[in-house]
Amino acid sequence: MKVTVVGAGAVGASCAEYIAIKNFASEVVILDIKEGFAEGKAMDLMQTASLLNFDTQISGSTNDYSKTANSDVAVITSGIPRKPGMTREELIGINAGIVKQVSENLIKHSPNIIIIVVSNPMDTMTYLVHKTTDLPKNRIIGMGGALDSARFKYRLAQALEAPISDIDGMVIGGHSDKGMLPLTRLATRNSVKASEFLTNERLEQVAADTKVGGATLTGLLGTSAWYAPGAAVSSMVQAIACDQKKMFPCSALLEGEYGMNDISIGVPVLLGKNGIEKIVEIELDAAEKSKLTESAEGVRKTNSLLEL
Ligand code: 2OP
Repeated sequence: MKVTVVGAGAVGASCAEYIAIKNFASEVVILDIKEGFAEGKAMDLMQTASLLNFDTQISGSTNDYSKTANSDVAVITSGIPRKPGMTREELIGINAGIVKQVSENLIKHSPNIIIIVVSNPMDTMTYLVHKTTDLPKNRIIGMGGALDSARFKYRLAQALEAPISDIDGMVIGGHSDKGMLPLTRLATRNSVKASEFLTNERLEQVAADTKVGGATLTGLLGTSAWYAPGAAVSSMVQAIACDQKKMFPCSALLEGEYGMNDISIGVPVLLGKNGIEKIVEIELDAAEKSKLTESAEGVRKTNSLLEL
């Protein structure tokens, strides 16, 4: 299993690190445009191999896509991250051109590749890849919901004063501060609904804190988060590499599912060797359907800024 990570910044390097530590990939190539940067990150990571007991071969390349040839999966993290006070949508002008060129270069050397898009605004960047490449829709996946759901579980565990291993919860919709939809009605503590333990008011606060989880960290860090984004996308890569049929909320191109067409937005999917094996249509109540529709309107508005 060969994985390429485009972008040797904090998210890309964290993703490569977690993939290596999980030891399911034979090879990880990190690529960046900054001279020597990917090579340095790869060498530093390889010098942890004896300490962290992994055999994954990590190498770096300065913008030479031939080194990514025959990759099974690629993770696109390249582009600029948010600064405090910025929305993800404000990144579109710069990141759209980068993501388009990166995906074209990847496919040129790995025609059977599965692409996972992390770069923001992620749902729109994922849609861009659908619209500008010939990859089948199951092989283009956006990472947002896996991260947002991890933040949702973190906030739920805090509110419930419970171990996070007892918590399950999912966030669907657009990967945006206003558009994401934490499914508080379905969240559970060891199969018991969270609403059995928390008031609606407290659950709404958990949802509100989840929605600004990225912005909260950007305010604290001065730039976008990287540990959880890296961990989230590495889990998706593992599900594909190990053909797990594991369910994640991912940005997927909808063609009628959830009553939507021609949009990539966060919905539950099963990830396996073919990328998106299945889009799972769950029963939503009226309020959830309305919020998902509103979220889609926000994604479509950002999509309209693309010059396709
Ligand atoms: C986040 O929410 C980078 O969009 C990512 O942290």
